[in-house]
Formats: sequence, C-alpha cells, structure tokens
Amino acid sequence: MTGNDARGATDIIDAPFRDPALDVEARIEDLLARMTLEEKLGQMLQLDARQDLDDIITVKLAGSILHASPERILRALELNDRTRLRIPLLVAEDCIHGHSFRPGATIFGVQLAMAASFDPVLVQRVARVTAVEVSATGIHWTFSPVLCVARDVRWGRVNETFGEDPVLIAELGAAMIRGYQGDGLADPTAILACAKHFAGYSETQGGRDASEADISRRKLRSWFLPPFERAVQEGCRTFMLGYQAIDGVPITANHWLLDGVLRGEWGFTGTLVTDWDNVGRMVWEQRVRPDIAEAAASAVLAGNDLTMATPTFADGAAEAIERGLIHEHHIDTAVRNLLRVKFELGLFERPRLPSPERQRAVIGSPAHAEFNLEVARRCLILLQNNGSLPLDIAAPGYTIAVIGPNADEAQGQLGDWAGSSGQIDWMPAGHHRHQIETVLDGLRALVPPSWTVLHERGADIVEESAPDAGVLPDGQPAPPVAVPASTDPDQLAAAVAAATAADHALVVVGDCLQLTGEGRSTATCELIGGQIALLDAVVATGTPTTVVVLSGKPQVLPPSALAADALIQAFSPGMRGGRAIAELVLGRIEPTGRLPISIPRHIGQQPTFYNTVRGQHGDRYADLTQEPQFVFGDGLSYSTVEYRALTLGTSQVAADGEITAELVLENTGDRPATETVQVYVRDLVTSVTWADKELKAFRQVTLEPGESRTVSVQVSVAQCSIVDARGHRVVEPGTFELLVGSSARDRDLLAAEFTVL
Ligand code: NOJ
Repeated sequence: MTGNDARGATDIIDAPFRDPALDVEARIEDLLARMTLEEKLGQMLQLDARQDLDDIITVKLAGSILHASPERILRALELNDRTRLRIPLLVAEDCIHGHSFRPGATIFGVQLAMAASFDPVLVQRVARVTAVEVSATGIHWTFSPVLCVARDVRWGRVNETFGEDPVLIAELGAAMIRGYQGDGLADPTAILACAKHFAGYSETQGGRDASEADISRRKLRSWFLPPFERAVQEGCRTFMLGYQAIDGVPITANHWLLDGVLRGEWGFTGTLVTDWDNVGRMVWEQRVRPDIAEAAASAVLAGNDLTMATPTFADGAAEAIERGLIHEHHIDTAVRNLLRVKFELGLFERPRLPSPERQRAVIGSPAHAEFNLEVARRCLILLQNNGSLPLDIAAPGYTIAVIGPNADEAQGQLGDWAGSSGQIDWMPAGHHRHQIETVLDGLRALVPPSWTVLHERGADIVEESAPDAGVLPDGQPAPPVAVPASTDPDQLAAAVAAATAADHALVVVGDCLQLTGEGRSTATCELIGGQIALLDAVVATGTPTTVVVLSGKPQVLPPSALAADALIQAFSPGMRGGRAIAELVLGRIEPTGRLPISIPRHIGQQPTFYNTVRGQHGDRYADLTQEPQFVFGDGLSYSTVEYRALTLGTSQVAADGEITAELVLENTGDRPATETVQVYVRDLVTSVTWADKELKAFRQVTLEPGESRTVSVQVSVAQCSIVDARGHRVVEPGTFELLVGSSARDRDLLAAEFTVL
C-alpha cells in the first residue's frame, strides 16, 4: 500500500484526531491507532527534498523533509495532501543565522559573530526576525542554535558556535530559543528551535570533524551538557544528535545520554532528530552494526524519533521488528513524540503554508536590514589600536587604500550556511549582491566627499578551481580540497603601490568558505595563500595600517599583522558587516564586541580556551608561552575604562545565598565606551581538579567620557559549583574568589575573597 491509496480516506475527515477541541494526547492516540506500521515508520523519516519527491512522500511516506527549495516545498505539500491520513509534513531547514537559503532573506553574522555582542536581548531579536521570515515560507523548524563548546579552533564548525564558554553559550542559546519559538508554538510566527549537536560533538581529536569524542561523563556534565540542560528549561522542543561516538558508543545509540539524561533527568518531552545519516553511518562509517536493521533497532531503543537522511531506515526498522530486535510499541513511542510536536504547532488546523503576501512584507524588509546593521556593529572586536583609529574624518583630501582578498568578497562575508556555501543547490550564485555591503562598499559609501578610496585585492587565499571532490557515501557533496593560492607578484606590487600612495591602508584578510564548515576542518589556522606576503609588504611601506581579520574562526596572525597600527576581528559578519566595519574605522560607532573565543599565537598551542583545568608541570612550552594571542573576553573601546574598588556585600555566604558586589567603572578617555563587565569565580580548593576560573555572569555598561559609575554584580552560590568525582554537581563549602574585569586574563581582573559556609 502507498500513501496515495485512498482506502479509508473518508473515515478520517471527521476522525477525533482532527478535532482541535480534543486534548493533544487523545488526538495522538486516535491517530496512532489508525496508522499502519508503514505509515508510522514513514513518520520517522526526514528525507532530503532535493531527491525524488514522489518517492519521498508518496512511496516512503516521509513525515518530514529538509533542504527543499521554495518550489519544492509547494510540490511536497501537494503530494502530502494526497496521502491517506494527510498527516502534516514537517518542513525543516538550517536557518541558523537568518533564512540561510531563501533568496532575498536577511543574513546575519554567524553565531560566533553574534556571541561577540555578549547580548542575549540582541540575539533573541535576531532569532525572532529569522522566525518571522522563515515562518512565512512554509518552513516550521530551524536546526539552530548550536550549543557545542568550541575548544579546538582547527575544527571547521567553530563559526557555528557561540564560542568557548558554557555560560555564554547557555545564555545566548536560551535567548535564541526564545526568539525562534516566540510566544509559544501556537504563535503563527514561531518556528521550532533545535538544540544541537547533543552532545560533545565539538570535542574532536585534532579538530577532525565528527571524530570520536574523548570525553568522560563527568567532563560532559561539567562543561558540555549545561547549555543543553538550559535549552530544555527554556522549552526547546527539539534536539539534534551529534555524529560522533563517545567511549565507543555513537550518540545515536547512547541510551544513557538520550533516555537517561535528556528525557529522564531533565524531563525533555520533545522530539529527537539524528544528524545526517547517523543511523546509516553506524554501518558504513563507524562499523559498529553489521546491517541497517541492527542500526535502526539501536537508534530506536536509544530514543531517537526522527532519522535524518537515512532512506533505508524504515525498511531496516521493519526488518528489526520481524527479527524481534524491537517491537512496534517502540516505534509508537517515537511516533507519539513526532505527532505531539505537529499538534503543538497546530499544523492539523493551520498548515502554515507559504504565504506570498507575508513573504513580500517581511523577507529582507528594510526594518530587518536596519536591524541587521545594528547586529553587525555589535559583532566587531577591536583588538589593537595605537590611536590611529578612528580615522579623522575632518582631515581633507585623505586617501585610504582598501586592500586584501576579503575587502570585497560578498558571499564569503556571509560565512557558512548561506546561499552558495555548499549545502544546497538552488542558489548557485548566492544571495543578491545588492543586499550585501562589503568593506569596500561601506567605505566608498561613507568617506567624506574629498577623500579617495583606492582598492587592490593584493592576494588570493585559495586557488579558484579546486578539484571536484565528488560525493560522500552519505550523499552529501564532499568539500573540495582547498589549494592555497601562490603569491602573485603583480597583484602584490599593485597593492604596495596603493598602500604607498595612501594615508592609511586597510587590509582585509582572513579565511574563505573552503576553509570553514562541516568537514572543512583545517590543520593550521594561519592566513594562507598570498596573505602573509601581502601583510608584510603593506606594513613595510610605513603607511599607517589597520588589519581587519574577516574569518569564520580565529586565525593565527603573522608578526606583521600584530605590528599593524590597529587590528579588528570580524567573524563572518553577515550582509551588512562591511558597512559596520567602515563605520567603525571612520568612528561613526564605538567598538563594543568582545572575544567569545581565545585566539592562539600558534596552532600547536591548541587548545587555548581560558577555563582549563588546573594541574601541569610549569605553565609554558619550552619554546613558547601557553598564553593565547588574545584571550576570551578581550576587546578594546576607542576610550579607556578603569575598573576599581571591588567590594563584596558580605564575605560569608550560605549555600543558598547570593554573592553581591560593587565596583567603580570610570571612562577615562574622551569617547563613550560600552564595557562588558565579566564576572568570574575561582574556587580555591576543590575535591577534584577543576577549571581555575569560570565566567558566571556579565553585564554591559555604557559610560560617557569622564563618567564614573558604581556598578553592582550578583552571582548565586548555586552557580559556584563543580562536578565531583561521582559526577554530581555540588557546591563545596570553602574559600572562593570573585573576579571582575574586562577579560579572562588575570591581570584584567579585580579579586575579592568570600567564603561559602
Ligand atoms: C548536518 C549538520 O551536522 C547539521 O548541523 C545540519 O543541521 C544537518 N546536516 C542538516 O543540514
């Protein structure tokens, strides 16, 4: 039988499951009782809509699709309407920093860029705008936010994360979930959020994507699980599982993590989706199951509901039932979870079809573009400045040379998961060029009329024509192998001439789409191609130089970049990033971003995250310091701000109490400044080794020139916990330090001791 079979079609028109007045659980039971095994297994399939839709919907009866172009969404809905039970199709997409693959949509900076804002309210608004655009297009579910803790910057997906700190990740992740899910799933502009990749996926070996994560349960509970637990508390209705295995067990089969921790301890009642062909890869990649029937059985028993991009799952699960590996009631449990989310979204009553009228009103609207600029401004991090920034716009007849491979790289500036970044096939040319402002565009638009803007590319990063790497066994295109470009003497000479002729050189370097993303981890994070030669040559001209690193993830910088007059980090800043950079350089805005991840000096230092565990011989390599080049929390203003007079409300607190403190902040410069006041805690003696300090809170304070203000900060004692040897999160009485300041570096922090009784 196929879904096109009309048998029983009339019975279901008035069936109880169609009655919105009934309780959701009663509707689920009624519908489930009417479903054949084939229909139930179909609900557990999420298939790639770029494949044969007739087969996916009519034959395989898939309950969900992903990667559907606007046209194919319509076709899929039409086909689904002809299935026997007409169970609504759940349409999903990776709308992870805006409506990624929708022509005309708003594309924000990547998560790592947003994290630099340290601003949950801003991030919530990003997700809200995204949901408003996405929900108008017939898509119900975004695979966002990424709650992975980024530790090894060689990993290709660092750009998708909120950086290295679990508290920052949890706060921003929660904000994103609130933004996507709006006032609740009944809200027509709400979309389902998806906390991913559960859990420990980022803890790679050597940065190699999806490699086995060498991570204990205690370590998971200490740093990797808290952002996910927070997501459950925030009402996130779906979770996606990581690809990798931990201690030999693929996450897809990890009963302890999925059923024990997520559904058991945390009480998660939503839907679990595997990552791409996780079930199949247990057979063909990890080789821990002999066939698809055993793999399907393991996935079902561990608590997975929806299997992404494993077309053979349904047959495998049917065979597993025949072989007695699982029973139909296991399938029923998964289908209940899937139907619950469809009922909660109200899809049976209001199918949330694409709405051309709403699309015209909201997709890429002027208000969204304006907000995107506001976000881009907040993402930029000033890391060095000897006073040459901002440029003096009162200077008449000034010449600025805008140089570098990323100065005018429109699609690259958007970062991964956008338009032509490689995951989908219906936007080969990427997003509309007119929506994107590069650094060159921004400067041309904003410099005073008497100024001259020169432009030279100066260097390439990778060779244009990378060899086609074919298709992976899971059907995804294999990332092409990036071939570093060689230095082109003519290109270089032209850039040097422009820099020499200019009053200021702005060199925009970094990485490119071939060097960031899934399956695109890098062995080094150095500026490749002709970029170092370019920086060396431009800095050697003696023209004051600002370096802008426009990249998906931290880059190891050469001495010439570090010797430049100013340095700005812009993690893939989205459509309006170039304009925001121009505004910053010209002093139209103040720099406010802070590093959500440390930047190493040398790739051999990996990892360099600040909250490392105490205990090692010495504190440096024989040939290099262990200190990263720039540490978590770093970032300058155009002004200077002094932190002083940290005082505690009381130095003795009970286990259920709160530590309150005050300090004075003074803007000692002549421009306004927005400080991100960072509050860390150090537990002086712990029963097991623990991080030397951990971020517990942060707040932003804007000060006018000369203004000083008393600022208060609070941390509850419950936050001063560790995970003990038994794996329990506990607060251990004793002496602690409250550390407050402008970065995770000790010398940037004021300290005050307190005792937990
Ligand atoms: C694989 C990626 O790991 C995941 O993050 C993404 O959501 C899915 N593919 C769907 O595109």
